[in-house]
Amino acid sequence: MAGGYSMEVPFHRPSITEAEIEEVVACLRSGWLTTGPRVRRFEEAFAQAVGARWAVAVNSCTAALHLAVEALGLRAGQVVLVPTLTFAATAEVVRYLGAWPLLVDCDHSTLNMDLNDAEDKIRKLRQGRLPLDRRAEVVGIIPVHVAGLMMDMDDVAEFARRHGLWIVEDAAHAFPAAYWSKHTQSWRKAGEKTAAVTCFSFYANKTITTGEGGMAVTDDAQLAARIRQMSLHGLSHDAWSRYQAGGSWDYQILSPGYKYNLPDLAAALGIHQLARAEELRQKRETLARSYLESLSDASFVELPPNPSDRVHAWHLFVIRIRSLAGQNIRDELIRKLREAGIGCSVHWRPLHLHPYYRDILGWSSDLFPVATTIWQQLLSLPLFPDMTIEEQQYVVKTLKAVLNQSVSVRKAA
Ligand SMILES: Cc1ncc(COP(=O)(O)O)c(C=O)c1O
Repeated sequence: MAGGYSMEVPFHRPSITEAEIEEVVACLRSGWLTTGPRVRRFEEAFAQAVGARWAVAVNSCTAALHLAVEALGLRAGQVVLVPTLTFAATAEVVRYLGAWPLLVDCDHSTLNMDLNDAEDKIRKLRQGRLPLDRRAEVVGIIPVHVAGLMMDMDDVAEFARRHGLWIVEDAAHAFPAAYWSKHTQSWRKAGEKTAAVTCFSFYANKTITTGEGGMAVTDDAQLAARIRQMSLHGLSHDAWSRYQAGGSWDYQILSPGYKYNLPDLAAALGIHQLARAEELRQKRETLARSYLESLSDASFVELPPNPSDRVHAWHLFVIRIRSLAGQNIRDELIRKLREAGIGCSVHWRPLHLHPYYRDILGWSSDLFPVATTIWQQLLSLPLFPDMTIEEQQYVVKTLKAVLNQSVSVRKAA
């Protein structure tokens, strides 16, 4: 028993089949490694999978978010609503353009952005009670579907309409995912219809992966064209179209763009991952249901919601550890689980508690009572499609054991 534990369960293990490996090898043998025919195939299939007209593949979700807000014309000094409980990327892309994130608290149950608080934050901004210029123009909102549980995009759309905002959907966790739209009485996927642009992540531990990668999808031809152009130095033609029969070596620089294009080598993986996306989601859902059942009797553990009006992507399985006699034991549990060979994580320390947003920009904790309390209880357990029953049982058994241990130590004290 190496290290004193009976099993090692990583936080994530990508699911890679022979078909994916063969496609990467075929790409290597083809002589074309950068953006080309495999990226085009990946984009077309992805647009179809989410029900959007256009999809532009890029090298990260961060790049997709950056290109989305740039294409929407975000300017220095403007303001965008961003949840405080999110990853760095959601807010940093707003800062890239000199605009400001207006941070919003999260909903206690779903952990997604609380639209009532968004309303309140706009009111406080106008009253000059936030560390932002009270006269600044609020132009957009970036909802995040935390862990793969979608926000109700009907509500987001209604909120955005009322305040005259564009929507960029951060769906880094939400492929494939859907919500039941009360408005249209139909299932709507992340990326389908509501947002101006939706951004997905294919980072190594995401629901489908290309190692690093992302996709921006939209129904708007002009936004798609701007995103595509800015993803490759602002050039009039990409390399693949220049080297095609009938293509010309010539191109023009139309804007000072970025270097965000996805290579064919990565798309080779993506094409096959995409075809398996629903199968992989179902495997995660089965594991998530099994966690929900086997942890239902664990004291001090609060389980994630699984509402029937959502198709949950189950990118993450986030539990909450209630405090024990007023003491927070989350970090102690993570340490003990790691000692037992189990990889865990926390999603996330809220943005307003990071030095840049707290000390430099001046956001204070009392503006975010829910996120400030809840994040200290959050613990993400391993969840990935190829996790075995034995691995999951080991996680459940060990979690219960270390919880009991912590409880008894405190009772004895
Ligand atoms: C909510 C959210 N948005 C954006 C990103 C950025 O994704 P990427 O690593 O593909 O840039 C992440 C990454 O984990 C994320 O969790």
